[in-house]
Amino acid sequence: MPIDTQTKAEVARLRQELEFHNHRYYVLDDPTMSDADYDNLFRRLVELEARHPELRDPHSPTQKVGAPPLTEFAQVRHSIPMLSLANVLSREEMQEFQARIHRFLKNEVPVEYVAETKIDGVAVELVYEDGKLLVGSTRGDGVTGEDITQNLKTVRSIPLTLLPHKQHPIPRLLEVRGEVFLASKPFQQLNLERAAAGEPVFANPRNATAGSLKQLDSAVTATRPLDLFCHGLGRVEGVTFATHWELTETLQHWGLKPVGYRKLCRNLDDVFAFFDGMERQRERLPYEIDGVVIKVNSFALQRQLGEIARSPRWAVAYKFPARQATTTILDIKPQVGRTGVLTPVAELDAVGIGGVTVRNASLHNMDEIARKDIRIGDTVVVERAGDVIPYIVKVVLEKRTGHEKQFIMPTSCPVCSAEVEREEGEAAYRCTGLTCQAKLKESLKFFASRGSMDIEGMGEKIIEQMVDTGLVADAGDLYRLSKEQVAALDRMAEKSAQNLLAAIEKSKTTTLPRFIASLGIRHVGEATAKQLAEHFGDLDHIMAATADQFQEVRDVGPEVARSLAHFFAQPQNREVIEKLRTAGVQFPTITARRTGKFSGQTFVLTGTLASMTRPEAQKRIEALGGKVSSSVSKLTTCVVAGAEAGSKLDKARKLGVRVVDEAEFLGMME
Ligand code: IVH
Repeated sequence: MPIDTQTKAEVARLRQELEFHNHRYYVLDDPTMSDADYDNLFRRLVELEARHPELRDPHSPTQKVGAPPLTEFAQVRHSIPMLSLANVLSREEMQEFQARIHRFLKNEVPVEYVAETKIDGVAVELVYEDGKLLVGSTRGDGVTGEDITQNLKTVRSIPLTLLPHKQHPIPRLLEVRGEVFLASKPFQQLNLERAAAGEPVFANPRNATAGSLKQLDSAVTATRPLDLFCHGLGRVEGVTFATHWELTETLQHWGLKPVGYRKLCRNLDDVFAFFDGMERQRERLPYEIDGVVIKVNSFALQRQLGEIARSPRWAVAYKFPARQATTTILDIKPQVGRTGVLTPVAELDAVGIGGVTVRNASLHNMDEIARKDIRIGDTVVVERAGDVIPYIVKVVLEKRTGHEKQFIMPTSCPVCSAEVEREEGEAAYRCTGLTCQAKLKESLKFFASRGSMDIEGMGEKIIEQMVDTGLVADAGDLYRLSKEQVAALDRMAEKSAQNLLAAIEKSKTTTLPRFIASLGIRHVGEATAKQLAEHFGDLDHIMAATADQFQEVRDVGPEVARSLAHFFAQPQNREVIEKLRTAGVQFPTITARRTGKFSGQTFVLTGTLASMTRPEAQKRIEALGGKVSSSVSKLTTCVVAGAEAGSKLDKARKLGVRVVDEAEFLGMME
């Protein structure tokens, strides 16, 4: 199909608009467009690019969803080596750093610094030529790194095209360096999912980031909400910066994010004030920092100072004290969670780490205990990171006496005595008790939490009392509480009871996705709840769906579909939902996604297509109401086989699933 200038212009406009909104959303954290409107623009662009392969562009915003898997990473040589930083641990050492600078410069002229938080992530380099992201690589050994362009393209705050700016023209070449990181919340979420699925958990957010960036399949990286802060330069052509501070300002104009907390310091007192302030704030930050980096502000001075032993003389890392301590495990006890999973928790001999007394550490699951060979009575190294529950780094084997005991998972629930089961292929042990109070308490806490129904003031202690006194036996009961009942609870005065009831009342008006997410269905988080709401439009259709129908929803695989069908098949769950609706909990109906000619059909893509990339093919199928799955089963409607199709093709033939080639596939979409 020949392309008219109008289509070309529309594609260009859509790209520009989507870039702009990406920037507002992921860099400035200040969106000016609704998610739905954004999705519409995005889908329109996907559609146009699919229809006109000639217009495809690796820098289009549609390329942020992942590309076909690689077999290995190529090597990239950094045009200027990526150095590392020398550490200092005290004010005296900071003063020595300054004294060295003056000695080297042979003067006592005051030097300005920029102090920035030191992000505990993974260092990368991005190469932009004429504003287009060409290559993204890891630091590697500083001289040669790995080409992880595909993965970095999925990071929401990395622009594929720099934003033009009137006063700051885009340079011909910009090599910018920074730190990719994963915030604490998504890190915890990722580990919860991995622990439940029996996969090894990541020790800390940095390891999770490194693991995500080392994925050969960038579609996996795309599911991890990674972020980037820029902190320096490689080679640049076509622009000069006088100072690091000026660099940080200019990067923002181009749509890149400098380190979030930074300060221009006239002297070391300013540096110390920033360091102390950041150390105080450290606990409350949404991501991990492990110190402050202090850099000489002037690039001219930086050049004069040069480097020594792979570290610059002009910068240093002033580290916070380590947040590790050694203590002993007094006991290991299972804790029952919302979905009935028994998580082993170590009870520690209380130990202070960085001003906080630590008494417990999560052991995640039995596999993790086996992997680290953790026993009751062991001496262990414990680390506390941000607001994440402390974890055990390792056992100090030299301290073993031989009297340590293995932890054995009980066969009955420590709370309700019901049988404990381990499903085949799962790492988690679960309480099977239908009325387990521990499960009830945890699911009510989840129901009332900020991300769910958001009932302000409905804290842990209150929920526990409500359950213990028999006032509340399910979420529906929350909406039948009287003021007298609430006021009779411990530590509740009339005023606070009134406030709580008002918050409960307020929570009645909610949205369908929020309501679904708050039900705490296994494997169904916010994102899936949103997809379900958009697909079905209202709760009745969701409650009536079969597992097969659930599988038609975007991102819903067999396991999630089974979990949904199982949940809605339980009369108890349906009763609670009815109770909630009768009590007045309400949410507007959503316009269900347009159904197309592929509605109800599941496709599997294999091999390489000549006319489009896999993500593009997926988008096109989804735009027509179809679903794309990664594995062939009897439920697969059709396997699209491109060049060099592999085992999926064999499996399709074995199962008698329809197989089409690229030409046929294009025909089907006409
Ligand atoms: S400036 C010569 N600024 O820390 C290297 N680095 O331990 C100049 N890092 O390799 C780097 N936050 O990957 C700089 N605000 C920040 C940083 C930062 C984290 C990393 C960086 C470096 C490592 C050194």
